[in-house]
Amino acid sequence: MVNPNKDKPDFYNDLDKIVDALWDLLLIGKNKSKSEFHQGYIATYNNNYPSIRTVVLRHVNKSKNTISFHTDIRSKKIEELKDNNKLSMLFYDHGKKIQLKISGDAVIHNENDLSRNAWDQSRSFSKKCYIVENAPGTSSDKPVSGYLPEHEQDLPNEDVLEKGYANFTLVEIQISNIEWLYLHRDGHRRALFTFENNVLIKKSWLTP
Ligand SMILES: Cc1cc2nc3c(=O)[nH]c(=O)nc-3n(C[C@H](O)[C@H](O)[C@H](O)COP(=O)(O)O)c2cc1C
Repeated sequence: MVNPNKDKPDFYNDLDKIVDALWDLLLIGKNKSKSEFHQGYIATYNNNYPSIRTVVLRHVNKSKNTISFHTDIRSKKIEELKDNNKLSMLFYDHGKKIQLKISGDAVIHNENDLSRNAWDQSRSFSKKCYIVENAPGTSSDKPVSGYLPEHEQDLPNEDVLEKGYANFTLVEIQISNIEWLYLHRDGHRRALFTFENNVLIKKSWLTP
């Protein structure tokens, strides 16, 4: 007799297993730079167009119900988040055929304990991004890296890198809902998880 569930993952028809799977995927994404969830795409509001860009997933905290990324306090996305702190972050793993859309409220951490801790744990190579002289997105009449000429080729020493700390910002997403989509030839699966005060209050299937 043919078993219809033979090539289907455990989570195919199980909302609780989906919750476990999605946090596992996020944790792997944070920890493994080659995993497909290592970066996602964050969408913010601005007054003209929807605004979207790639960021690296830097922190995943299941008990706090947050995920976070790092950015420059001078960037456009921060300006947009200060106007409206609602944002969504999208991930897709081509191999696993899983898409996650995480929506929530952004909490901006700059020059506080959380950002200090994240900065101290960052590699020098990552810190260098934050010493660009002008704000990211500043227009220029010639091609530019944003670094002073003496810092273009090399990794500056820690004293110079430390100047970037004032710009370094951790954006925490306090999750309100997670939408899951799994593609399968026998029928896709879509589910919605809603959180309130860090607690998962609703799990439901959606038509894909
Ligand atoms: C693979 C990849 C990873 C990126 N990671 C980050 C990141 O973690 N933080 C960040 O601020 N920008 C990151 N960027 C650059 C952003 O996508 C974006 O261009 C930049 O932050 C300016 O966005 P904004 O002007 O909308 O603020 C990354 C870009 C790529 C292609």
